[in-house]
Order: sequence, then structure tokens, then C-alpha cells
Amino acid sequence: MAVQSLPDGYPQFIERADGARIWDVDGREYLDLMSSWGPIVLGHRYPAVEEAVRAQAVAGDCFDGTSPRMVELAEAFVDLVPYADWAMFAKNGTDATTLCCTIARAHTGREIIVVARGAYHGAAPWCTPYPAGVTAADRQNLVYFEYNDIDSLHAAIAGIEDRVAAVIACPVRHDVRREQELAEPQFARALRETCDRIGALLVLDEVRTGFRLDARGSWESFGVRPDLSAWSKAIANGYALSAVLGRADLRDAAGRVYTTGSFWFSAVSMAASLATLRVVSTPAFESNLRAAGQQLRTGLLAQAEAHGFRVRYTGPVQMPLLTFADDDDFALGNAWASAAINNGVYVHPYHNWFLNAAHTPEVIEEILQRTDAAYAALAGQPVAERGLLTG
Ligand SMILES: Cc1ncc(COP(=O)(O)O)c(C=O)c1O
Repeated sequence: MAVQSLPDGYPQFIERADGARIWDVDGREYLDLMSSWGPIVLGHRYPAVEEAVRAQAVAGDCFDGTSPRMVELAEAFVDLVPYADWAMFAKNGTDATTLCCTIARAHTGREIIVVARGAYHGAAPWCTPYPAGVTAADRQNLVYFEYNDIDSLHAAIAGIEDRVAAVIACPVRHDVRREQELAEPQFARALRETCDRIGALLVLDEVRTGFRLDARGSWESFGVRPDLSAWSKAIANGYALSAVLGRADLRDAAGRVYTTGSFWFSAVSMAASLATLRVVSTPAFESNLRAAGQQLRTGLLAQAEAHGFRVRYTGPVQMPLLTFADDDDFALGNAWASAAINNGVYVHPYHNWFLNAAHTPEVIEEILQRTDAAYAALAGQPVAERGLLTG
């Protein structure tokens, strides 16, 4: 992310990283709560992943044909994710979400994709949040509904049910610049039922949530399984890879769609992903990540209260967001994030954070010592005197 959109004091260039720590080009160390904006799920330079990467790099990365790692990885995903009967791979999350839409259209012969308003699905013209360079034609087959509001979905598709190829949704409402919102189980189930009723596919965009909430699929505990899903970010612990997973009867459509990229078959990132999958599929990984998230949440809320700030802590504890009450322009959030970076904690004021397995109880404790200093610094700043302090 360009430094112009980051709060004051954020470094633009990072020189190196290890575990939960990153160092900028001036040698300043930060405890990293953004995890490279999602990709780092085991910690920076996780030894088993780096070992797999080195071994694959010695054998080669980019070949005329695919490496066997691709088949091994597809099998590992199919074993891990209950609804997945096949997997295909690309590089970025946008590749995967776009591919899901294309496969859904190829399978159903329909054109419309139903999208939650404000959701981020990538940077292609059909889904970018910014209008520059986007034509009406790029969006003409999209209709919008409100997240967690099944009536708005029904209203959006009224009269066009037989033209809907897919409904795409994220497992959590993690749109930027607003509090996060967990999916209500009845909303997730109603999405599934509506798709079944109208013969459309349910696409789950796991690009941000994948491997952090439930490696089997984020709505597995609701008993809701999509037909197709898009994954990226954390699946190779920092190496460039994305995946589309799908149900058996969509294999034919997936095979008919033309899609490729010069570097999509790179074996190194697939070797990295195989090593990552081995760890994230263990119960200890999931419970430790949740416990770290809970420890951070408890500590940050206690500190806010002690320093007299009213805050909101939203989203899953593994990918939380801290915002301040009555702070619509994020002035206080920006000031707190600046104080945090000055005290050596890398966070963001309005994009969710990402915990990773290097956030051990000791590291969280160290983070909390630094955030306590950040709150203390903020309490002394003019921005905190504009009626926003409550204590
Ligand atoms: C939910 C979601 N979908 C899709 C994308 C696009 O992924 P990428 O930036 O790798 O293209 C992102 C990226 O942040 C995302 O958060």
C-alpha cells in the first residue's frame, strides 16, 4: 500500500521480516499486525515453508509443463475442504474471484452476478471500488444487495431469477472504512437456499478469510457450503498463489473456460502452499490463532478503557479492526495508528488486521506494552481533546 494513504509515520519500504517482526529500510523494527495485508499466516519466513521453497527452487520453478506440486496441492485442498472436488490455481485473488464468475456463467449459461454492495472482490474493472477507467459495460451484468439482509437479495433478483449465474459473498463483512460485521448464520443459510431455488451458484470469496477462520471453509460451522470459492493471500504464507475450488459437477465448466497466466504454474509457490497447508490443517494452529486474537482483544479493550477512549473492536478475533467512537473521519484512528507505529506496532486505522501464528502469547504481551504507550501518547495529543475522550 502506498504510504500516501497510510497514517503519518508509516514506512514505505520494508527491508526484511522474521516471525512477527518487520524492519524498514532505516532499520526500525515493528511488531507486525497486518501480516503483509493477509498473506503471512504462519509468521514471516516460517522455517518449513522456506525449506520447501528452497528445495523447489533448486529443482526449478517455471517449466514448460506443470510440476507435480500442482497435483499434490490440488489433492491436499480437496482433502482439506469438504465441498471441494477439484482445484485450479492462479496468482492473485482477483484472478480467482473473476474466474469463479466466469465458471458460473459457463456452467449456467446465465450472465448476472449478484454482489454485496461495498464488498471488495479485487481490482478488475468488474469489481474495483474506484470508477476511473471503468465503463458501464464492465458492470452491466451486476446487481447489488446488502450484506446480512436477505430481503435485499430477494428484492435485487426479483424478476431476473432465471438470469442469475451466481451470488458472490465474503464470509465476513470486512469492507474498508467501516466496522466489521460477522455473517449471521441464518443469512448464510438463506443465501444457500436462494441460490438453490433459482438455480444459481453460491461463490464464497475466501481471499481474505481463507486459513484464518476455519481452514475447511469459513461457513463450515454454519453448515453452509458454496459451489465455488476463491482463495489467495494466506494460502502460501507469502508466496504468490490463488486458488479456485469447486464442486464435481462444475469441473466441466471449469475445464471449458479459457484462462491462464505466464506465471500461474510456478512450482515454488505451490511447494510453499503445500507446506502451509500441513500446518493450518492442525487443530493447534486454529486454537492458538484464536487464543492470540482473544488475548489481543482483551488487552486492547482494557487499555482503551484505562486511558479513557471509547472504542469498537469488530470482526473475528483472528482478523480484527479497532475503531474509535464518533470518529467518522478516522482522525482519532489515524492518530492512534501513528502513535502505534511510533511505538513499533504496525496496524491500520480502517482496514482489518491479520493475526498469524508468530503472534505467541509473549509477542502479544509485547505488542500490548507498545499499544499502551500509544494510547498514553494519544491521550496527550490535541486530537484527543476534541470531545472524543470520554474518560
Ligand atoms: C475479499 C477479497 N477478495 C479479493 C481480493 C483481491 O485479491 P488480490 O489483491 O490478490 O487480487 C482481496 C484483496 O484484498 C480481498 O480482500
